[in-house]
Amino acid sequence: MFDIKIERKNYPFAMAEEFKNLRTSIIFSGEDIKTVLFTSCFANEGKSTITLELARSFAELDKKVIFIDCDLRKSILKRKIRDGIIKKGLTHYLTGQCSLEDIIYRNNPGREKDVEFFVIPAGPSTNSPTELLSSQKFSDLLTELRDEYDVIIIDAPPLGSVVDASIIGSKVDGSVLIVEAGGANYKVVKKVADKLVSSGSRLLGVVLNKVDKSKKSYSYYKYGKDYGYGDKYGYGN
Ligand SMILES: Nc1ncnc2c1ncn2[C@@H]1O[C@H](COP(=O)(O)OP(=O)(O)OP(=O)(O)O)[C@@H](O)[C@H]1O
Ligand SMILES: [Mg+2]
Repeated sequence: MFDIKIERKNYPFAMAEEFKNLRTSIIFSGEDIKTVLFTSCFANEGKSTITLELARSFAELDKKVIFIDCDLRKSILKRKIRDGIIKKGLTHYLTGQCSLEDIIYRNNPGREKDVEFFVIPAGPSTNSPTELLSSQKFSDLLTELRDEYDVIIIDAPPLGSVVDASIIGSKVDGSVLIVEAGGANYKVVKKVADKLVSSGSRLLGVVLNKVDKSKKSYSYYKYGKDYGYGDKYGYGN
């Protein structure tokens, strides 16, 4: 296990509250919900931002949390490392190049105001992400992590573009669809939600992200039991 420091942004109060609401919705989805996948219809809808903050939010409740960067095509985790070096990642592990302990990194808060949680970085991009994520080795990894951690948060690529999230969906306890307000239309969201469900995944809900609350009327997408939404925010405000 290696220590790193992951960038922490200061979100406005309302935004931080929404992360807590999302955490509560997931907790209330059931005790059996430990591995949760996050995807979206398109790129840039906010998956990595939300999943990383959600991992922190669970850690604040003293849960042992691990964040897995399953975007094996375009990982952004590396850009968020402020201290420490990432040597090996999921693609190394799934191709038999290292052991599990070589890919687990700890966000060590040190003296900064942060919390401890664990991450598995994606590793170098690969030509065969679909095959790697379909493998028995990946299923076994999730089973092993389930025994060790309270919550496993998975950041996956957009399901509207590639099939990866659907494959992961078949191996997790629940999934959440992130939708950018004013982005994909209802039909597209429904199609992607249906794809997730047909993968065998339990769709826990939809997060409507980047909502401009200054606009009075907004119709919400709603699937499954729970849903949450994020406030529109500007970094550093
Ligand atoms: N609620 C929000 N309000 C404003 N900007 C946001 C919000 N959520 C995310 N963003 C911004 O949107 C951009 C995309 O976010 P992020 O990288 O989290 O999306 P993603 O879905 O993981 O993208 P990709 O599909 O490329 O992995 C980033 O610049 C991020 O800062
Ligand atoms: Mg991302």
